[in-house]
Amino acid sequence: MNLKLKIWRQAGAKKDGKLVTYDVKDISPDMSFLEMLDVLNEGLTKKGDDPVAFDSDCREGICGTCGCMVNGVAHGPTPATTVCQLHMRHFNDGDTIVIEPWRARAFPVLKDLVVDRGAFDRIISAGGFVSVRTGSAPEANAIPVPKQASDRAMDAAACIGCGACVAACPNASATLFAAAKISHLGLLPQGQPERQRRALAMVGQMDKEGFGGCTNIGECTAACPKEISQDFIARMNRDYLVASADKRD
Ligand code: SF4
Ligand code: FES
Repeated sequence: MNLKLKIWRQAGAKKDGKLVTYDVKDISPDMSFLEMLDVLNEGLTKKGDDPVAFDSDCREGICGTCGCMVNGVAHGPTPATTVCQLHMRHFNDGDTIVIEPWRARAFPVLKDLVVDRGAFDRIISAGGFVSVRTGSAPEANAIPVPKQASDRAMDAAACIGCGACVAACPNASATLFAAAKISHLGLLPQGQPERQRRALAMVGQMDKEGFGGCTNIGECTAACPKEISQDFIARMNRDYLVASADKRD
């Protein structure tokens, strides 16, 4: 396949960026999207040009580092798929593909397609953990977990922190991410002691980071490669309201 790529190039956080057009030739339909970018970068490097900066790590849909906008869609055209798992067979010979970084004030562009998602780390640091005394590991069956609760917790824990929900949301809201992280702990018995504090702290941090509010548009779930359900947002809002009311009393 021969393709025309229009890629956002931006030398640094404080620099202006622009779309630059590149031609790539002889791309196999079996290549992943990132392998196609590797081919482009090999060519650029051989010519002495600056390769396109993009994030990736696992390249198997589990680390959440690789996201970018492909033709205006977070992670590209295939539902429930990260950009590293997107294959070139979903495009046609001669296509023009527009590739841009996540667009959100809370995710500043560092270079080309790489954005700073440190805001997510700070939301997790605010409360996305269960405090435990150190010492020997507790017996695995000491706290029975109902099957339904563990299944729901696993559904929420599937969030890989990629940021597609923020990029897809017209409000650049991080609500689906925060809801998944708050729920996966709040659904388990081990997460109950800190449930209220966690909801207040993580939602508070999300607001401080400059993410927009949730207006139930639903683009987040549509873009999410792990199909995290909006039900978790309702759950997070309940936790937050209960915690806020208790704090007032
Ligand atoms: S909720 Fe989905 S889209 Fe948002 S960070 Fe988690 S995995 Fe990515
Ligand atoms: S590189 Fe890890 S999810 Fe894409």
